[in-house]
Amino acid sequence: MKKHWDNPQEHPMPEGTRVPASLQIANVTVAPATVLAPMAGVTDTVFRRFIRNASVFSASPDHASIEDQVSNQQSGCGLIMTEFTSADGLARMRESKRKRYLTFYDDEHPISAQLFGSNPQTLAEAARIVEDTGFDMVDLNLGCPAKRVVSCNGGSGLLRDLPLIATIFESVRAAVTIPFTVKFRLGWNDNHIVCVPLARLAEDSGLNAVAIHARTREQGYAGQARWHHIAEVKAAVRIPVIGNGDVRTPEDACALIAKTDCDAVMIGRAAPANPWIFKQIAEYTATGRYDAPTDHDRYRMIRTYFEMLLTELTPDTSRAPAAEAAGKMKQFASWFTHGVRGGGALRKSIYEAKTGAAILEAVDHFFSRELADDESLDSSLPDAQTFVPSLAAGE
Ligand SMILES: Cc1cc2nc3c(=O)[nH]c(=O)nc-3n(C[C@H](O)[C@H](O)[C@H](O)COP(=O)(O)O)c2cc1C
Repeated sequence: MKKHWDNPQEHPMPEGTRVPASLQIANVTVAPATVLAPMAGVTDTVFRRFIRNASVFSASPDHASIEDQVSNQQSGCGLIMTEFTSADGLARMRESKRKRYLTFYDDEHPISAQLFGSNPQTLAEAARIVEDTGFDMVDLNLGCPAKRVVSCNGGSGLLRDLPLIATIFESVRAAVTIPFTVKFRLGWNDNHIVCVPLARLAEDSGLNAVAIHARTREQGYAGQARWHHIAEVKAAVRIPVIGNGDVRTPEDACALIAKTDCDAVMIGRAAPANPWIFKQIAEYTATGRYDAPTDHDRYRMIRTYFEMLLTELTPDTSRAPAAEAAGKMKQFASWFTHGVRGGGALRKSIYEAKTGAAILEAVDHFFSRELADDESLDSSLPDAQTFVPSLAAGE
């Protein structure tokens, strides 16, 4: 595929480490072995397809269309996951409303739907709905730190009750034939680290893979993810282990594999800051180097995402865009423009704009000035920590 990035970065390849070319989760092939983490308020169908197709948007002006189907190999992202969805809500709501929560498109396969809840029967019922809707996998959330979820014993709240988790595993496993996985934090706090027994329980209950965010619930997003616990889990089970936490660059992805021997890398906050991350990991794995985006790439990327939002959220784009689209554009702009020189001014004009169309205009205006100057933007990767962890209600 033709490249037009003109400021490649050279990085030393960590000795002997690669992000694996593929990972098999039961009958589902995840290739390459990279996963877009579930993120509430972020990984809706628009964002997921945006990430899946990111290589197309940045490959060449001739290919800047989502009409071209992109293989997972090209995109560098092997598996995508939905935002977490309430099992109670799904089981209760009307079919038409369910569709809105579980919308996905053909180009999103393989795709996993994540559920949260604490009632084994309700989770089983919701998992059946997920399977009937056509998802490739179903995942259980045991990581969400949000008080409203934990207070109902959901998310990371369940980490304090392994016997109840065992019943949930059994009930969901019996309800579906698609691969069933679980994503969890290390434990409730440092006095209650349960990741190894929990992973063993998952394996014994017939789950097909585990994903670990290497922090405790009490830790929130503070400090560093403690990858050595991922290594302990990997050594304890034979089912695939997906490592997660603080992977912000291709070098981090390779280092996570090297230090833990995990089977795949899951990436959360780095994705909206740097939608090229999956493609960069694939390049780095193949060649030991990767390209940084140019200002043209950034312009095309932000504009494409905003157009996708407007199309998806306001089917008739001639009408005033829904507040939801404008809200998402503002949220994304604040993340995505952190690596852009003069990004503060762009953020300001986006925040001041009242409609989606006005936001697009602000983007066009900013980049037309920047591109005319023909000066490259600050190519340093945005700091993933600029994401607001308090938004992480879904984990
Ligand atoms: C805004 C936001 C929303 C999140 N929502 C979810 C979620 O719905 N389900 C989940 O399992 N984790 C959720 N997480 C946690 C991420 O999936 C991931 O485990 C965490 O961000 C650590 O990975 P990272 O360092 O690559 O970001 C969320 C995180 C953020 C920042």
